[in-house]
Amino acid sequence: MSFTVAIDGPAAAGKGTISKAVAAHFGFAHLDTGLLYRAVGARMLDGLNPVQAAETLTAEDIKRDDLRTADVAQAASKVAAVPEVRRALVDFQRAFALRAGGAVLDGRDIGTVICPEAEVKLYVTASDEIRARRRFLELTEKGQTTTLEQVLADLRERDARDQSRATAPLKPADDALVLDTSDMSIDAAVQAAIDAIARRRG
Ligand code: DC
Repeated sequence: MSFTVAIDGPAAAGKGTISKAVAAHFGFAHLDTGLLYRAVGARMLDGLNPVQAAETLTAEDIKRDDLRTADVAQAASKVAAVPEVRRALVDFQRAFALRAGGAVLDGRDIGTVICPEAEVKLYVTASDEIRARRRFLELTEKGQTTTLEQVLADLRERDARDQSRATAPLKPADDALVLDTSDMSIDAAVQAAIDAIARRRG
């Protein structure tokens, strides 16, 4: 039996943390769909045509260790606006969502386009400043040199692009539960997500 949890939202809202915790709690598989776009973006920075990069993406590509850099994040957001790139990644994501035993997918268009039939849809968000602070701490902990202002500017640029593109723009599905984590601890946000899923599972 499949059971799909779709978790969407802007950059650095806490989707990854919540998705991993929820997947561990319920024993579901987890797919961070941003990694697919990041891998295509990284291959574009290597000089490949983004559509070809998406059509020939392998498991190795999404294991690259440079996918979490700011440059790759921007490249990912750019390739994600190309309809053929998105199309090339649909089947893999849908098959993952329908695997037996349950799946959590996090991204931008999971509840709206990839899995409109998902059993649970969450839209995780937080204020720009709080998201930038979280991402800044994450990047500096990894040894990347940047400033809070730069991270905030990057994040706003990426969100604006992701929200305004014609194909599968970032927005909450009509039936998504919106979780604003601005004033929530990680534990409280994870618990709210677990409660929403538990209610649906019965
Ligand atoms: O979630 P992330 O920050 O790793 O995503 C990187 C970029 O990939 C994001 O700015 C937009 C794009 N993306 C998308 O368009 N659709 C998804 N389902 C996931 C990511």
